[in-house]
Amino acid sequence: MSPTRTSDVLVVGGGIIGLVTAWRAAQRGLATAVVDPEPGGGAAQVAAGMLAPVTELHHGEQTLLALNLESARRYPSFVAELAELTGLDLGYRACGTLAVALDADDRAELRELHALQRRSGLDSEWLTGRDCRRLEPMLAPGVRGGLRVDGDHQVDPRRLAAALVAACEHAGVVLHRAWAERLTVGRDRATGVVTGAGTALTADHVVLAGGSLSGRLKGVPAEVLPPVRPVKGQVLRLTVPARYAPFLSRTVRAVVRGGQVYLVPRENGELVVGATSEELGWDTTVTAGGVYELLRDAHELVPGITELPLTETRAGLRPGSPDNAPLLGPTELPGLLLATGHHRNGVLLTPVTGDALAHALTTGELPDGARPFTPKRFSLLEQPA
Ligand code: GLY
Repeated sequence: MSPTRTSDVLVVGGGIIGLVTAWRAAQRGLATAVVDPEPGGGAAQVAAGMLAPVTELHHGEQTLLALNLESARRYPSFVAELAELTGLDLGYRACGTLAVALDADDRAELRELHALQRRSGLDSEWLTGRDCRRLEPMLAPGVRGGLRVDGDHQVDPRRLAAALVAACEHAGVVLHRAWAERLTVGRDRATGVVTGAGTALTADHVVLAGGSLSGRLKGVPAEVLPPVRPVKGQVLRLTVPARYAPFLSRTVRAVVRGGQVYLVPRENGELVVGATSEELGWDTTVTAGGVYELLRDAHELVPGITELPLTETRAGLRPGSPDNAPLLGPTELPGLLLATGHHRNGVLLTPVTGDALAHALTTGELPDGARPFTPKRFSLLEQPA
């Protein structure tokens, strides 16, 4: 057996959520470690990086909206702090988003979204099809109308992940490049993990931040096991040659035949097209059907897309939760906290998650705005009446 390695906080999972938690904990003076075979990997390597609380608003998710808006509000200072610390450019663009409708059904759905946004006090402007094309001349002539949301931005999640690895190293976070095999529990308290190589890592607090894998760590008592599931998203990356620039000046999205399609243009010429949403377990195959549907829908929206080189196809797994909201903070097992279940909003919720978990680790309590996201909401639901 290898020697035991000890810290105040051990974060299981080195995706952007685990890394931001570790970085913020270390900044508060806690000796922090992360266990992950590939820190900076995970769903952020696939995600488009939309910061879109307004255009991604859904009925029944008002509580989540407040957290999403708060995290979006923190983004400019969050990326400025990371960029200053690491010298890295995170590809943050305050570019806004245009959500458009291609037919009468899409238009009715978008009108519904607009009404919900207005009831929620959000900034969003209804535009005619002609106005949409004036803003984005590459849009199809058939666009029937759209919503201009100047506050929904983007960041490059791959650069964000790289910056968070650098920030963790800068803050003295120890990165154990290994799989966490099993949670260890002693005297009714989480005490650490054992890695695949048999190394025992112990800590006063263990934060389970394993994305869609969070429900799979062995040794976690069933009553605190996070109810997360993998939701597959296939994503394409294309390149806009300089002669076509600017191809799009902001994120453009639509609902086409009931499915979401979005095009996210980066300043470096990358154009990200996403995403499927498939409940297929742990499958991360890129399928001909997935690529076909994304390109077909994107082409209906922006016909010129078929001229662009297709540079990458990839699938990732969103950590879905029963109410589409994250699970943050202490569980009913002392010493075990969760930072998982961010579903479609992992990139957006990165700043607020780091702050909420650091607060919980230092005070034992979630800050007010994060309290509705306690993991205990699921165990309480199962209490007998
Ligand atoms: N937030 C975009 C997606 O999950 O596809």
